[in-house]
Amino acid sequence: MEYLVRSMQPADVAACAVIETSAGDPWSLEQIAEELDNQQSGGASRLFVAEGNGQVIGLAAWQLAAGEASLYTLTVSPSARRCGVGRRLLQDSLTALQAEGALCAFLEVRAGNDAAIALYEQLRFAAAGLRKRFYQNPTEDALVMNCEL
Ligand SMILES: CC(C)(COP(=O)(O)OP(=O)(O)OC[C@H]1O[C@@H](n2cnc3c(N)ncnc32)[C@H](O)[C@@H]1OP(=O)(O)O)[C@@H](O)C(=O)NCCC(=O)NCCS
Repeated sequence: MEYLVRSMQPADVAACAVIETSAGDPWSLEQIAEELDNQQSGGASRLFVAEGNGQVIGLAAWQLAAGEASLYTLTVSPSARRCGVGRRLLQDSLTALQAEGALCAFLEVRAGNDAAIALYEQLRFAAAGLRKRFYQNPTEDALVMNCEL
């Protein structure tokens, strides 16, 4: 499938909220809209979507502050998984964030989320610590990962 990564626009929010329902810790439509509003009014949020065949098939939400990019959500539509979309979203958004001054990137992931951890390791993220019982429903530790850009 041909796809591209671009900045999220207000018209993407509803599709992104649907994709988020497939995530373990989904962001609501209101949350996505609020983060996009933050970005568009000069705040620290940075949101990206992957688009394939004219459809939004994934999203990545970051915050950029003090040279550090923090990943808050990364979700690919279930029907588009294992096609390289997650990797491309991460790569392209990190390139854009680096161009804006990010020197390093940071994320938290459920310690049992092997698929996401494998993806982050491909992008040179390394384990930096564990936050015990960080997630709810179900309770699970967070693996903290970071990388230099
Ligand atoms: C994690 C997620 C974003 C990966 O997106 P994706 O587009 O399917 O990933 P890609 O096709 O780019 O895969 C890149 C690499 O990630 C790893 N990976 C992805 N899905 C995997 C799976 N189900 N099992 C094992 N490894 C997996 C592999 O190393 C893969 O490389 P390979 O295809 O060369 O083997 C996607 O599964 C998802 O949206 N999951 C639900 C939300 C979530 O858990 N987000 C992370 C929260 S921190």
